[in-house]
Order: sequence, then C-alpha cells, then structure tokens
Amino acid sequence: MAGRDNRPYGSYFMITLKNVILRRSAKVLLDGATVTINPGEKVGLVGRNGAGKSTLFALFNGSLHEDGGDFYVPKQWRMAQVAQDMPETEESATDFVVGGDTRLAELRATLAAIEAAYEANPDDSDIGMELAHAYTDLADAGEHDAVPRAQALILGLGFKSHELDGPVNSFSGGWRMRLQLARALMCPSDLLLLDEPTNHLDLDALVWLEAWLQKYAGTMIVISHDREFLDAVTDVTLHIANAQLTRYGGNYSKFEDMRALQMEQQQVAFSKQQDKIAHLQKFIDRFKAKASKAKQAQSRVKALERMERVAPLLAEADFTFEFKEPGNIPNPMLSISNASFGYEIEGEEPKTILRGVSRSVLAGQRIGILGANGQGKSTLVKTIAREMGALAGQVTEGKGLNIGYFAQQELDVLRPQDNPLEHMVRMARELGSAVKESTGEQALRGFLGSFNFSGDMVKQPVGTMSGGEKARLVLAMMVWQRPNLLLLDEPTNHLDLATREALAVALNEFEGTLMLVSHDRALLRSVCDEFWLVGRGVVADFDGDLDDYQRYLLDEAKRLREEAKIAVRDAAAAIAAEPVAIAAPAPAAIEAAAANKNPQQRKQDAQGRQQRSDQAKPIKREIAQIDERLAAAGTERAALEARLAQPLPSAEIAEAGKRLKTLNDEIGRLEERWLALSDQLETLAA
Ligand SMILES: Nc1ncnc2c1ncn2[C@@H]1O[C@H](COP(=O)(O)OP(=O)(O)OP(=O)(O)O)[C@@H](O)[C@H]1O
Ligand SMILES: [Mg+2]
Repeated sequence: MAGRDNRPYGSYFMITLKNVILRRSAKVLLDGATVTINPGEKVGLVGRNGAGKSTLFALFNGSLHEDGGDFYVPKQWRMAQVAQDMPETEESATDFVVGGDTRLAELRATLAAIEAAYEANPDDSDIGMELAHAYTDLADAGEHDAVPRAQALILGLGFKSHELDGPVNSFSGGWRMRLQLARALMCPSDLLLLDEPTNHLDLDALVWLEAWLQKYAGTMIVISHDREFLDAVTDVTLHIANAQLTRYGGNYSKFEDMRALQMEQQQVAFSKQQDKIAHLQKFIDRFKAKASKAKQAQSRVKALERMERVAPLLAEADFTFEFKEPGNIPNPMLSISNASFGYEIEGEEPKTILRGVSRSVLAGQRIGILGANGQGKSTLVKTIAREMGALAGQVTEGKGLNIGYFAQQELDVLRPQDNPLEHMVRMARELGSAVKESTGEQALRGFLGSFNFSGDMVKQPVGTMSGGEKARLVLAMMVWQRPNLLLLDEPTNHLDLATREALAVALNEFEGTLMLVSHDRALLRSVCDEFWLVGRGVVADFDGDLDDYQRYLLDEAKRLREEAKIAVRDAAAAIAAEPVAIAAPAPAAIEAAAANKNPQQRKQDAQGRQQRSDQAKPIKREIAQIDERLAAAGTERAALEARLAQPLPSAEIAEAGKRLKTLNDEIGRLEERWLALSDQLETLAA
C-alpha cells in the first residue's frame, strides 16, 4: 500500500519501490521492480514506446495502484505535474499560470472564508487573529510577486509580451500545452513529474527550460526521448525494459555507455546459457524415453525451467520501415505564386501570417523548414496540405500530387474508441482501395505487423495506447497511402530513439519530395539538404547549415535576453544612482543653482543632504555585505552543481542536494532583502 508507515527510519524521505508489480489489462509492465529515488535527485525515466513510463507516473501520482509489492512516496511531499488535457478557458494566460500555484490558491480560499466569518462576527478576537495569520501566510507564499513569476515562466516558454493577457482558448493546441507546462512549473513542489515536456517546444524554449530545470531544487523525474535534453537536466537514469526497472547513476549518455557494456557481457552470458540449455535439453530428450530414468529427467526439466534466462536481446533490436516507391512524381510538385497565408476569422479582417510567398517545390527536394516560435511554419505546411486555403495568390499542384501529411497535432486524426485495424480498414475504404474486404483485412494486419503492431495490439483501442504507439500508427497510415510529397510537422514527438532512427533511415531512402518541420536537430541534419526560413512574415531561403541556424537562434535569444537585462539593469542603476547622488559632491550646475538660493535655504538643503546620507550609510553597508555573501553562495552553488553532475554515491547526492536546497533558499532570501534595501534607498533619494 502506498504510504504505509512501517518503514525503517530514514526511508520516509525517499521514493521506494519494492518488488512492485504493475499491469495494464493483460500486459505486465513491471514485474518485481525494486528501486530508490533520493530527495533532490534529477531522474531521467527512459525506455521504448509502450514500455510503461507514463504508467509508472500514474503510480507515482496516485492515480494508479501497484498490483503487487510495496510502493512509498513521502506523504508530506507536494507534487507538481503537467496536466495532460487541453485547457478550455477564457481566463488570461497569466491568471491561468498563477492558478498553478496551488498553495497560493489554497491560502486565498482560506483567507476568503475567514474574511466572511470576520464580517459576520467583527468582534470575535480569535477570528481577528486568524485573519492576521491568513494575511501573513499569503505574504509568505509569495503572493506579491506571483504575477511576475508567472509571466517570467510564460515568456521563457516563448510567448510574446503582448500575449500575457490573451485568453487561454485563443491559443493553438501546442501553445496551450506550453501554458500547462508553465502552470506546473509555477507550483511549489518537492516532486516534479514531467512526461515528455519538450514535445511542444522548439529550440529556444527548450534551452530556456533546460536552464530552469537545472535550478529546480526538489526531486524531479522526467520522461523524455531527447538525448541532449536528458543529458542537460538529469544525473540519474531509470530504464524500463522487459518489465524490469533498473537504476543507473549518471545522465543519459552515461547510461548508454553502461548499458552497452552490460549488453556485451550479457551477450557472453547469453551464449553460455544457450550452450547449457542445449546440453540439458539433450539429456532430457535422451532419458525421457526410458521410463526408469524419467524421474531424473523430470528434475532436469525443472532445472531448465528454473534457469533464469537472460532476457532475449532480440527484444531490443530496432524496428525498421520504409516508404514505398511513389507511383509517379510530378515535377514541379507544387508552385506557389505571390500567395498570402493565414487565418480567416469570422466577421473580422483575415489574419495574415505570411505574405508574398513565391516558390516552387521540385521533385526530390528535401527541405527543412526553420523558424522561431509561432512564425508560421505550421501555417505554411497546413496550407500546402490543403487543410486551409491561401488568403491570396495561387498554389498550383502538379498532376498526380499525392500528399502524406503528418500534422503536429497528429493524434487528432485518431479515434480513441477504434483500434488500429479499424483505422486502417476505414482509410482503405475511404481511399477506394480495390482490394476485397476480407483479404484486405489480412493484408492490413500484416502491414500493421511490420510497424510493430502485432497480435493483440491491432485490436487495442487507440485511446489506451501510449503516445509513441499512437504516433507510430499515424506514421503507418501515412506510409500506406504511398505519398510522393511528405509534409511532416514535428513527426518525432513521442517517438522513442530507436523509432526516430528508423524514421530517419526511411526518410533518407524515400524517393519523393520531403518538407520537414522539426526541433530534432539530429533528424534535420541527417535528412534535409536545403532549408527555408520562415520569419518576419516571409519565407526565404536560409543560406547556411543547421549549425548556422542554431547560432542564429541562440544569438536571437541572447539578443532578446540582453535587451530584457538592459531594461532591468537600467531600473537597478536608477535605484543605485540615487544614493550615489546623495553622497557625491554636487555637480557644478547644481552648485551654480544653489548659489542663487539664500543662505538659510542652502543650509537647510545641506542639512537634508547630510541627514539622508547618514540614513543611507547603514543601508549601503548591508547591501555591500549581501553582495559579498551572494557572490560566495553563488560560487558554492556552482561547485555543488558541478559535483552533482558527477556520479556519486546516493548518500552524498542526498547530502549535496540538501545543501543545494539550503543555499538556494538563502540566495532567495538575500535577493529579496537586497531588493527591499534598494527600495529604501530609492525612497530616501526621493
Ligand atoms: N487501459 C489500457 N488497456 C490496455 N493497454 C494499455 C492501457 N493503458 C496502457 N496500455 C498499454 O500499456 C503499455 C504502457 O503504456 P505507457 O503509456 O505507460 O507507455 P510509455 O512508456 O509511456 O510509452 P511512450 O514512450 O510511447 O509514451 C502500452 O503498450 C499501452 O498500449
Ligand atoms: Mg508515455
């Protein structure tokens, strides 16, 4: 049972799994998992699509219970996680994210209740006290800066400042999911659960999230298929495979190295075992026939059964697929002349996103479509995919153009109640397949099998499948249509690394034309040989390779950050400049002006200045002390973080993690004090 209190002292502060069994219908996802996660650890949870990662999260957050064994998570821990549903609300983006701070929300509700009681009973001194406490609690919970904290998260995830007050349901699906992420980050927590948080992000938001998570002080478990991201934010790796959960000390790359070594050793153990099995089998076969020796043979049968077989390494073998050769390939595939792309809005002027687009797409081109957040990459792709019309100009298609479109919201095209086979049958029917229904079904089953949908899975309702399994199904449906132009909008979201590899291989062998939007650097690099840049309302060729683009993106992000920093620094400088002006000798111009004043006035001015300067001195002294302490704490924190990046014994990790948290708390307090003091100086100067 979760949370049972018969644990040895010390285990109250960690997550423990002991011989845990976890099932989904007939599938056994965990079979005797034993693992500990210490406080403050940053854990990457990895494994193939459908291995059971999201299911394990359901165990962690209590929405699912273990089918056997023991599972504990510290009861007092506050948990934050990204809601999986699409938010539908008129609330502004900022309010929505502030709402993620559940502690604040609870305290606000408490305050409202006490206020009501107080109004009914203004003379009750107990209620008066409660009211005072409620106000203090709210202040302690950071109510005063909740809005700027929320907005920093929203902007960090790539929203523009004019969008902060926009209603949540005015944003597209991907952007709303980003708001869900911001909401989870807003929640003060001891345990943060993130299930593929980078799926809806592009490069610049991804870099921001990495930096944010590196500063997070609690325990974090993150599911991801992005190697570079995992390396940046985790120091422990949990691997699910073959219903086993294994802990590795180290980030993803480290885990891969260790696993490769293990597989090598296992391979040796595996062949040794096979020899032994063969030997026993021979013995059994020989003696079974002879009744007298049957008993002996029986014990050998048992030995054979007992023998723990090394999990077949074959299960890890990567699956592959290919796009069939397109029937014919028109050239040009497509020509766009002087077109505008964007959205029709009922009763309003259409919203133009891209204008003056004139380009041709030729047979065999492999185009990577680049561009920062929300610049119109998906709009361009959707229009070419005939999901929406051009607002102006012409899009002319070549004869026999057959588009295979993988939409960013790829899962939308699936029906949760239907199974993969029903999806294929319906598609075949809609496309007017000439194949007879019965033989058709057999063929479709075979086809699904080649995409790793075997046996029972062809009949499993799509709604219960894992994210990666759904994405794989959409890919399968697309391949079946035999397209000659592939339009892929973020096709790797949800796909595990092996399937991404398989996709890259298939795309490289594809003979038609490819247009690809992706934040997967490795995929873009391996399959595209020219790039379009979508930005500032136009589509242009991008002269350069992906490294140039990454530099461009990082430069852009840096420029924006610098701009923001300068604004902040200017404000800080304005505050700091004031006290200096108090103490500094008056500049000549002021002296001259002062010379015109009468002596009495001058004396008063001088006295006032002296007084303010006296008052400012202790404040400035404290600020200097805080600066010094902040610098020291910052250095210690950097050293600790560097240490935590190394593989360490778990006791040391826990200790360093604790120290890091203390330091972060102290730094937070010091920064707040610094701000308050600066405020005082400012008031003095005024
Ligand atoms: N209600 C259910 N009924 C039957 N099977 C289910 C159900 N829910 C999940 N499964 C199956 O359990 C397995 C584990 O699913 P889970 O979502 O945990 O995988 P995952 O590791 O998160 O995969 P991904 O990387 O694709 O997100 C999958 O094969 C899935 O099809
Ligand atoms: Mg999952």
